[in-house]
Amino acid sequence: MMKKEERRNLKVYQKVFGCQMNEYDSDEVKKSLCEKGYEITEEASESDIILFNTCSVRQHAEERVFGNLRKLSKLKKKRPEVIIGIMGCMVNAYKEELLKDFPHVDFISGTYDFGQVPEILDEVLKEREQKAFISLHYKGFRFSRYTGRFNKIKAFVPVMRGCDNFCSFCIVPYVRGREISRNPDEIIDEISFLAEHGVKEIMLLGQNVNSYGKGLHVNIDFPDLLSRVNDVNGIEVIRFMTSHPKDTSEKLFSVMKDNEKVEKHLHLPLQSGSDKILRAMNRNYSINDYSKKIDSLRKLIPSVSITTDIIVGFCGEGDSEYNQTKDVIKGIRFDDAFIFKYSPRKGTKAFTLKDDVSQRVKNERNNDLLKLQKSISYEKNKELIGREEKVLVEAVSRKNNTQMKGRTSSDKEVVFEGTKDMIGKIFLVKLTDIVHETFIGKLCNNENK
Ligand code: SAH
Ligand code: SF4
Ligand code: F3S
Repeated sequence: MMKKEERRNLKVYQKVFGCQMNEYDSDEVKKSLCEKGYEITEEASESDIILFNTCSVRQHAEERVFGNLRKLSKLKKKRPEVIIGIMGCMVNAYKEELLKDFPHVDFISGTYDFGQVPEILDEVLKEREQKAFISLHYKGFRFSRYTGRFNKIKAFVPVMRGCDNFCSFCIVPYVRGREISRNPDEIIDEISFLAEHGVKEIMLLGQNVNSYGKGLHVNIDFPDLLSRVNDVNGIEVIRFMTSHPKDTSEKLFSVMKDNEKVEKHLHLPLQSGSDKILRAMNRNYSINDYSKKIDSLRKLIPSVSITTDIIVGFCGEGDSEYNQTKDVIKGIRFDDAFIFKYSPRKGTKAFTLKDDVSQRVKNERNNDLLKLQKSISYEKNKELIGREEKVLVEAVSRKNNTQMKGRTSSDKEVVFEGTKDMIGKIFLVKLTDIVHETFIGKLCNNENK
């Protein structure tokens, strides 16, 4: 074992490529390394250890990692003592292949091994040969109580790991394993700890938060968990993602309505507007089911904002299926949509289907939907001008240091004239204008709400 003092001078640089779950895992790695005496640096060139936390969800995400890895070979030639480690989803997808393809990489560690990175580094620093650490099972949830790097208003908290849904296009169940819900007491413990250290906003994370509770010995579902988080003193805003349409319930909608801290926003990935494509994607809902859920949520909370994910160019998506997606988008009028071009992932069910939509058509549909969604978002946002919204102030605006920025409960970004001492508090702000996707606001004549 290395002593803490020996590690003190070792600087770690970490780059994150994936989703919020990956960001959370990377932060935990950082905290566990700080606890052991490592230093964190934002400069790869001055670091002793370089860690990439990787994503496999689309080819583009992997290409970014490959490109960044290739660039590191020069640095490794100049400074062979630098340790390069690849962590996360791509390690579970490619395993030892990565070590062969990138001889300058010192170690790889998988999605079950984030908690062990300090011990892994001990071994790698001692033995100095290429090593793989890819566990087959979780060793339980563990969060670091290290507070040295805290000055956060917002934090992610996972409520589960993995995914059991096997949407036919998706690599996540393969690289992150089966769904495991986290014990509610542990979740509340982590959130209370964060609240004591100044965190005001929590984003509850899971690939499918609405199936939370499955397999636990306690009888609890996701809406129950939201109510429990709502009771934590000091937490002001509770966000959550992602919800799967098949598991999203009326009970969730009532809890959203009744609990003031819970955001009035639902991210509900639709993926396609065609029942035929939804079946091929193994999504387990129809457009009719989806629309009914949206209608009942809007009836209960008229001001709710709803966002979605869409994949264009999935196998078998002809013009008519694509036009159905357009029609559904026009009908539902989402507040925003993330649009992705279908990217075949080896090992998934859809990989065995023919990727029969050309790149050109995928690009065209992608651009077409982006344009459509942009105009809908603009129209919807314009309707909000004049409204007074509670905003948790997060930081000084990057563009103008007399302005503060924050988000409404419906997850809309707002900037307004204010002072630094407002950070971390909730204020009533009147939305007066919108520039691109950011609202301009004016502080209401109202003390801290
Ligand atoms: N569990 C979450 C997040 C999954 S990844 C969920 O169910 O929503 C986020 C989004 O990436 C998905 O909603 C989907 O729209 C997109 N995506 C996943 N796999 C993809 C693939 N192979 N090609 C293109 N987009 C994909
Ligand atoms: Fe992937 Fe579907 Fe699971 Fe989301 S719900 S992670 S899209 S398999
Ligand atoms: Fe997240 Fe990408 Fe892995 S989306 S779960 S980092 S494959």
